[in-house]
Amino acid sequence: MKDKINVGIIGFGTVGTGTAKILFENSELIKKRTGIDLVLKRIADLDIKRDRGIKVPEGVLTTDADAVINDPDIDVVVELMGGIRPAKDFIIQAIKNKKHVVTANKALLATEGNEIFAEAEKNGVEVGFEASVAGGIPIIKVLREGLVANNIVAVYGIINGTSNYILTKMTDEKVEFSDALKEAQRLGYAEADPTFDIEGIDTAHKLTILSSLSYGIPLSYNEVYKEGITKITAQDIEFASELGYKIKLLAITKLSNGEIEMRVHPTMIPNEYLISKVDGVFNAVYVEGDAVGSTLYYGRGAGDMPTGSAVVADIVDIVQRGNGQKAKGIGYASADYKIRKMEDIESMYYFRFSAMDQPGVLSKISGILGNYNISIASVIQKGRRLGGSVPLVVLAHTAKERDVLNAIKEIDNLPVVSDKTLFIRVEGSEE
Ligand code: HSE
Repeated sequence: MKDKINVGIIGFGTVGTGTAKILFENSELIKKRTGIDLVLKRIADLDIKRDRGIKVPEGVLTTDADAVINDPDIDVVVELMGGIRPAKDFIIQAIKNKKHVVTANKALLATEGNEIFAEAEKNGVEVGFEASVAGGIPIIKVLREGLVANNIVAVYGIINGTSNYILTKMTDEKVEFSDALKEAQRLGYAEADPTFDIEGIDTAHKLTILSSLSYGIPLSYNEVYKEGITKITAQDIEFASELGYKIKLLAITKLSNGEIEMRVHPTMIPNEYLISKVDGVFNAVYVEGDAVGSTLYYGRGAGDMPTGSAVVADIVDIVQRGNGQKAKGIGYASADYKIRKMEDIESMYYFRFSAMDQPGVLSKISGILGNYNISIASVIQKGRRLGGSVPLVVLAHTAKERDVLNAIKEIDNLPVVSDKTLFIRVEGSEE
């Protein structure tokens, strides 16, 4: 590829602005480092009037996305508008026009990425997506290049800043979920409709990408188990703390008995694990490889400049690799891989039962747990409400998810249990 590279951006929002700023301000530095001259030729957005706090040279802004996609001088199209449509159509058209594409669009890649990558391969161009997972943390490069020599044993990620902010606030200030969410919205972290953040959907989009890079499987968003943080109470966080754990929304992909696990759910993590200390809007990804052992990556998972940093790195990477030298990483696995069903996973568990405060209740509950081979590690019961219900917390040793679900069904039918049982999966080693 030539040394002067013309870049066009579609979507002049937060990340688009950060990317433009970096291209305007740091392109001299990038040229010194790499010999590549990046020129931001066009930025397309429906709103080109709003002041974004950066000076854009005359003639760069346009309201017409086609002026980017169909401009024969543009080498790399950067899609930062988000959403599925029309983003997908723009990307496919750019690829058909033999342009490389860089995108931060995790929702699009997780759900429609297989088609997009196939189209790119057919046309001999690349799709860069470093900015799609964990913002400024170069985790895609880590999995695709830095750890290329490793069989990946496991990946654990805190990859949604909004939910991590909410859980951190609930932990530090002992406030309930709804108050922490309101604060996240006030600060502009959560979306106006924050469902994607708090129901684990955004985390699952990102995990889909990490899992495919780790194990070479096609992007398989529909196979990811998702559970959000909306049922976690300040009381659970306090009980967890008493037991020596933090609660985090964790994305997990790992190999168990030759099957690939892909799951997103609130998880109790021992206080002494480094990843349990990742607070606020920060992200972290722990990767264990068979050769390298444990590694951990930490940084900002969102925001204009951190995500822009990943976008620009992708452009440079694609140019440096040149045409034909593909940075593959998705879809190389043989077709007989298996994704583990959620009922088949094994984990330690935290249970919060709503039990009547009367003699014999604990033995009834523990009897059922025992019948399903669920062994108790510790029990906490606090408060006294004769004739009323109190939280009864049980920490259990490693058990099968299928057994846990069946045991809970039985326990929740006991007349001495007044409400649905909450359970949280627990990481760490057995005591
Ligand atoms: N909503 C996402 C988050 C933005 O909170 O992490 C970055 O993908």
